[in-house]
Amino acid sequence: MGDFAKGLEGVTAAETNMSFIDGQEGRLEYVGIGIDDLAEHSTFEETVFLLWNNRLPTASELSDFRKELSKRYALPAGLARRVAEIPTTAQPMHMLRTLVSEMSLYDTHPNDNDVEQARRKAMNILGQAPTIVAMFDRCRRGLPVIEPDPSLGFSANFLYMLNGEKPTETMARAFDICMITHADHGLNNSTFAARVVISTLSDVYSAITAAIGSLRGPLHGGANEGVMHMLNEIPSVDDAEAYIMGKLERREKIMGFGHRVYKAKDPRATYLMTLAEQLAKDTGNADLYAKSHKIEQVMEREVAAKGIYPNVDFYSATTYHCIGLRLDLFTPMFAMSRIGGWSGHVIEQLSDNRLFRPAAAYVGPHDAPYVPIDQR
Ligand code: CMC
Repeated sequence: MGDFAKGLEGVTAAETNMSFIDGQEGRLEYVGIGIDDLAEHSTFEETVFLLWNNRLPTASELSDFRKELSKRYALPAGLARRVAEIPTTAQPMHMLRTLVSEMSLYDTHPNDNDVEQARRKAMNILGQAPTIVAMFDRCRRGLPVIEPDPSLGFSANFLYMLNGEKPTETMARAFDICMITHADHGLNNSTFAARVVISTLSDVYSAITAAIGSLRGPLHGGANEGVMHMLNEIPSVDDAEAYIMGKLERREKIMGFGHRVYKAKDPRATYLMTLAEQLAKDTGNADLYAKSHKIEQVMEREVAAKGIYPNVDFYSATTYHCIGLRLDLFTPMFAMSRIGGWSGHVIEQLSDNRLFRPAAAYVGPHDAPYVPIDQR
């Protein structure tokens, strides 16, 4: 029992070159570069290159990377048919998890795990996941499917496939910033799930499928949808304080707050707050931002002393809403971005693998008699 760390808190279970988190100071770096710097200057494609190669690309490397990715936007015909057949009532995270798993059926070498093959599979998943999400959303709304446009970057192409018209530069950039800020985050639950699965030398599709299953939980990536439900439940900014106080009195968790690692404000929340404020103003959603801001103020007064601050999910909800995304697509957005991080971790794990196999402290009885069924 001595070594038992519930929830593996404080346990270092892997080495990574990808992201560094200082939870006390509220700092996040990808390969040493501050998240604010990346959000300000980088693109999602460049950020994924950085995570997968541990360095920034040259101009020609970035251009090749973009080409490699955009070549994969289109789905194999069989997979596209499957997306169209998914029940329109299905939840998008269940749909995405299932379809990523199905991608392995179209890979002629699904089990090859050398680094080159792992990168190829990761590129497939990264390129096709947005197409799957956009296609499913249009099918369930009874709208014609929009084929991907390989001349567009990752974010602009996704919004184009979703809405049927090219996004403004501001919207595409705002979405790209969301993708950059969600791309990697140390050994979070879904990343750990991906590393655990690949450590058996299973395959990249299985690892990413497991990660998507983990991400959808409300304590993890599902929290961004929880935040939006909460904002929808609060009629106006004047009701926000009473709503939050009621929840705290009932000892209910406030979605979008708290973090296992951060005991200061999550730097991604700081960045997304500014973005959300601007977008909310521009899109006529100022009241939504005002509610969020009020909630943050109440939480600061009530629980900041316990180290509970806004996390990445809090302001990403307002941001996604202002970009025009339907609520149940928020967590799939997180997944589309984090596929970059998960894949990088899978490659790191494969490069220096050892099977994950922790121990459990047995707390049950010993020497118990086997009682025949008719005597129980
Ligand atoms: N609202 C109110 N109280 C909270 C919250 C919250 N959001 N988060 C933690 N606490 C309290 C909790 O009730 C507990 O209090 P006490 O010691 O009095 O029982 C204390 O803080 C410690 O909480 P914990 O749940 O044991 O801490 P953890 O490190 O296991 O939890 C967490 C981390 C993210 C699961 C938790 O903060 C939480 O449930 N937050 C809400 C869900 C959320 O926003 N998740 C997204 C996380 S960040 C992005 C991601 O990873 O996807």
